[in-house]
Amino acid sequence: MPKTAAATTITRKKLIDLLNGDLAREYQAIIAYVNYSQVLKGAAYMNIADELAVHATEELAHALAVANHIDYLGGMPTVIPKPVKTSEKAEEMLRFDLENEKETIREYRRRVKQCDELNEFALSESIREILMQEQDHLIALATALGIDPPNPGIAD
Ligand SMILES: [Fe+2]
Ligand SMILES: [Fe+2]
Repeated sequence: MPKTAAATTITRKKLIDLLNGDLAREYQAIIAYVNYSQVLKGAAYMNIADELAVHATEELAHALAVANHIDYLGGMPTVIPKPVKTSEKAEEMLRFDLENEKETIREYRRRVKQCDELNEFALSESIREILMQEQDHLIALATALGIDPPNPGIAD
């Protein structure tokens, strides 16, 4: 039989693995925002530095929610973050964050559909709430960089 979309249908096991990828990305975001909020220098960046400290606490709340969902599905939440890039340059830090937020949004958009496909409507609802905050993070970073918020699209 030819490979069709049905052949790649989501399973609970696959969802656990994908959520663990999301959790590793949330840890990465916590670490990046803790570091960048303190390292960011320059009068032009002081507002955004304060905002990055707020993002750090929001990413922690996301990590707790995602870990809770993984446990609910019978999986083991990962303890390993995705790697974090560092920089001395304010603009570079903001661009790293922007790229990470784009990736996070792309993935969560797909996760909402996958949770719905498994009839896990409460999980998709929770991820929608996280998504709203990630989109706010994206807007804050784009504004600080003086660009329009990019459309991240959706993961495969
Ligand atoms: Fe997050
Ligand atoms: Fe975020």
